[in-house]
Amino acid sequence: MKTSTRKLFNHLLFLAAISISNACFAGESEGEIKDPIAHGEEAHKNHCYKCHTDSVYTRDNRFVKSIDALSKQVLRCKEGSDVPWFDEDADAVVQFLNKKYYRF
Ligand code: HEC
Repeated sequence: MKTSTRKLFNHLLFLAAISISNACFAGESEGEIKDPIAHGEEAHKNHCYKCHTDSVYTRDNRFVKSIDALSKQVLRCKEGSDVPWFDEDADAVVQFLNKKYYRF
């Protein structure tokens, strides 16, 4: 009885050690975004089509002319519409828009 309890305990310790090292290996910590472009696309899809479509990013007279202006505009639109994003989410959307449309 006693030895089997100890065995079980060792077993659990072993499993715990494995899952901790796996977590380290994957380089993940709580809340970290693994693929910003995909994350940005998803976040954008969920929150950014209320007032305009993607055509504002591709129209001839678009006013965003730099990556800096793009981050500012994303924040402006986010703040104007109560979108519940953290800075990381907004950054991810900037990366997504830049990759897909602006290419600065
Ligand atoms: C409350 C309405 C509203 C929402 C919601 C909104 N926007 Fe906008 N957005 C605007 C308006 C208005 C403009 C300016 C359009 C114009 O000048 O014709 C604009 C323009 C932009 C531009 C600049 C386009 C250019 O000319 O280069 C970007 C980038 C942009 N929005 C990103 C976003 C993102 C990202 C979201 C999601 C957080 C979002 N918007 C949600 C109202 C909104």
